[in-house]
Amino acid sequence: MPLPLSTVIATAAPIAFVGMAGVGKSAVARRVATALGVECIDIDAEVSAVRGGQSVSSIFDEIGEDEFRALETAALLDALDGARNGVRGRARRAVIATGGGVVERQRNLDALRRQALVVWLRSSDDVLADRLRSSSVRRPLLDGDLEANLTRLRTRREPLYRALADIEIDVGSATIPQVVEMVLSRLSAVEDPAQDGEAAQDGEAVATAVVDEVAGTGAGTGAPR
Ligand code: S3P
Repeated sequence: MPLPLSTVIATAAPIAFVGMAGVGKSAVARRVATALGVECIDIDAEVSAVRGGQSVSSIFDEIGEDEFRALETAALLDALDGARNGVRGRARRAVIATGGGVVERQRNLDALRRQALVVWLRSSDDVLADRLRSSSVRRPLLDGDLEANLTRLRTRREPLYRALADIEIDVGSATIPQVVEMVLSRLSAVEDPAQDGEAAQDGEAVATAVVDEVAGTGAGTGAPR
């Protein structure tokens, strides 16, 4: 029988944002963390920090995607463990902003599914392309034909985000403050499962994740390495 949602919530699982580059994960995560009064951990920033402040794009250029992914996994596992166990001075509950490619590695999928409440922010390729074009941050995997690369990555990743998500939010072209409101409202529904039917469904998703952990099963419908 699934664990009651209240039990899951009481374990103070970290809240992890996933979704494509440009959807606003980092900005939303920062504001949600502030609203909840907890730490925000940005995985790209953590990877950058372990490389002495080197930018993600420069890390990609220097050591390649595989090595970047290894650093990303290490940072993610550290963030999840720290958030859950309250070690290394981290808050017990944290909000984690992942990079868009976090779903490219099975180990990340397994850890997120077991240890976090996952919020998937999604939007259309058109909206993402507009935002990415005006972003000062270079995403190496989107170099070249932005639209074609977005479509290629989204097609591969969307089923993985979907399988992982406890909460799915179509942000459309909403502003960051509007998305933060949407997230907080969905989170409060999850935290109070009696609130409405949608919340009960979210609760089941979270509880299922916990039960799957006990049963040793994982998510993942695609073929991440
Ligand atoms: C990546 C997304 C980026 C960053 C890196 C790889 C990806 O993070 O981790 O450029 O594979 O989509 P954001 O999603 O925060 O832009």
